[in-house]
Amino acid sequence: MDMNIAVIRGDGIGPEIVNEAIKVVNKVCEKYNHNINYTDVLMGGASIDVHGTSLTDEAIATCKASDAVLMGSIGGDPNTSPWYKIDPKDRPEAGLLKIRKALNLFANLRPAVLFPQLADACPLKKEMADKGFDMLIMRELTGGLYFGERKTIEENGEKKAIDSLTYSESEIRRIAIKAFEVARARRSKVISVDKANVLDSSRLWRAVTNEVAKDYPDVTLEHMLVDNCAMQLVKDPTQFDVILTENMFGDILSDEASMVTGSIGMLASASMNDTKFGLYEPSHGSAPDIAGLNIANPLATILSAAMMLRFSFDLGKEADDIEAAINKVLDEGYRTGDIYVDGLKKVTCSEMGDLVAERI
Ligand code: IPM
Ligand code: MG
Repeated sequence: MDMNIAVIRGDGIGPEIVNEAIKVVNKVCEKYNHNINYTDVLMGGASIDVHGTSLTDEAIATCKASDAVLMGSIGGDPNTSPWYKIDPKDRPEAGLLKIRKALNLFANLRPAVLFPQLADACPLKKEMADKGFDMLIMRELTGGLYFGERKTIEENGEKKAIDSLTYSESEIRRIAIKAFEVARARRSKVISVDKANVLDSSRLWRAVTNEVAKDYPDVTLEHMLVDNCAMQLVKDPTQFDVILTENMFGDILSDEASMVTGSIGMLASASMNDTKFGLYEPSHGSAPDIAGLNIANPLATILSAAMMLRFSFDLGKEADDIEAAINKVLDEGYRTGDIYVDGLKKVTCSEMGDLVAERI
């Protein structure tokens, strides 16, 4: 197979972790005789340094012309980085929002899995960690508060800021369909999370989700209020299979879910449109404090690359091989600093990439 992949290395630890993911993808493609063409794309601070803005139209065009986008991470320390002294519309995070919208990446899949080898890192009670859990947050990514009308006005002698939260039926329907489809291939349970006791957008969310559910009689649907969901995630994460939720709630709950696994350095993500096209990136950020030290954990990015092979190229066997290699490396006791515990073997970012590639 021929694959055209746009690569956004980004900022902070981004370049290091993407290098390791490419190392592993190259190895699996060698094994199965696939041909990959990588095109580098600048985004975030790396783009600001060159173009004065975090994402150019040319960068978007290059991504659109590719089959998939593999990304590291973007952004710096807002307190010290010059990238945060410029107009907000040019800052690193604005580039991320812009690419999501430009590529219509409305479905953000964020798996939160407790790797049995890392159960000790789970901050929950041992009885809970021993049960293990595996959930997927299906976050709506191109609507809601992030993309509603936003302004700051002056009223009665004081400033007033307005952010609006809107959702149309079609925006809710298409993400709900994605959640039910994914649930079918998992444990067939969707919990839709909203704030229907207060918000109109949530009441519509609930109504449309109920309608979509009629087409999936084999999948169970429950509704949960977002504040309750925040509690349930730490009380008993084993109750969740697929969590379907809007943009802002999904942003917050996916950070909570990843913390509950205890190893954010392990969590992948995919942002998809309604074709096979997707942008794949680790769930964690750019960790500017450890950038360039070759100590970051590349596994979330490597797992994101596996998601890319599975979802954008239908290469399930290749993705399985990568996941199996990662499990093997963990079973053998190799750990980067973030997941290291006494008695195991501490390795660098590039060593971790080598170890995974060697096992493919
Ligand atoms: C995420 C991040 C982004 C978001 C930021 C960087 C704009 O937190 O991908 O979860 O809020 O969506
Ligand atoms: Mg976030």
